[in-house]
Amino acid sequence: MGKFEVIDHPLIQHKLTMIRDKNVGTKFFRETVKEISTLMAYEVARDMPLKDVEIETPIAKTTQKELAGKKVAIIPILRAGLGMVDGMTNLIPAAKIGFIGMYRDEETLKPHEYFVKLPNDITERQLFIVDPMLATGGSAMMAIEALKKRGCQEKNMKFACLVAAPEGVKAVRDAYPDVDLYAAGLDDHLNEDGYIVPGLGDAGDRLFGTK
Ligand code: URA
Repeated sequence: MGKFEVIDHPLIQHKLTMIRDKNVGTKFFRETVKEISTLMAYEVARDMPLKDVEIETPIAKTTQKELAGKKVAIIPILRAGLGMVDGMTNLIPAAKIGFIGMYRDEETLKPHEYFVKLPNDITERQLFIVDPMLATGGSAMMAIEALKKRGCQEKNMKFACLVAAPEGVKAVRDAYPDVDLYAAGLDDHLNEDGYIVPGLGDAGDRLFGTK
């Protein structure tokens, strides 16, 4: 079973509280999502494997650690996931970026895939799938399915969001138990319109200044 972790670092909690405020403007919201994403990347990358490497400092030869194993691809779910990419590449600058486009039918609340563009070696990479809101879990599950269809394995996938609803966490974990989930906050419930309560509203609109 993969893990589900709420990354409750004080800096993350503080910044998340700031962007929940409905009076915060687009610039501040976008910058703060980026900061939270950088802090989250640090935790999401915590179990990346290391290997020994021989190096020579100005003083002595020594055996030290460097990253081993798979290279990373960051996969934002369009469009709100884009807001988390720069923050993650701050820490993992060599990561490749893949894109999965989903839109949510406003009546059925069901996600539809309209665009998928991934690095050629996607099946060889450790995948960080990012989307600020894990609500019903529909988009996350469609993204995971889109990646599995193209040969990726659940055990190589980590899904990171800012705010999760318990309903979404359960749906994803039931359907894809080997995917690791990370959230900055676990909220109370979904309302009848599919919004997370208390949440932060429509993350895409708040990131990009649309309505
Ligand atoms: N998507 C959002 O942007 N916000 C929610 O609360 C739920 C889904």
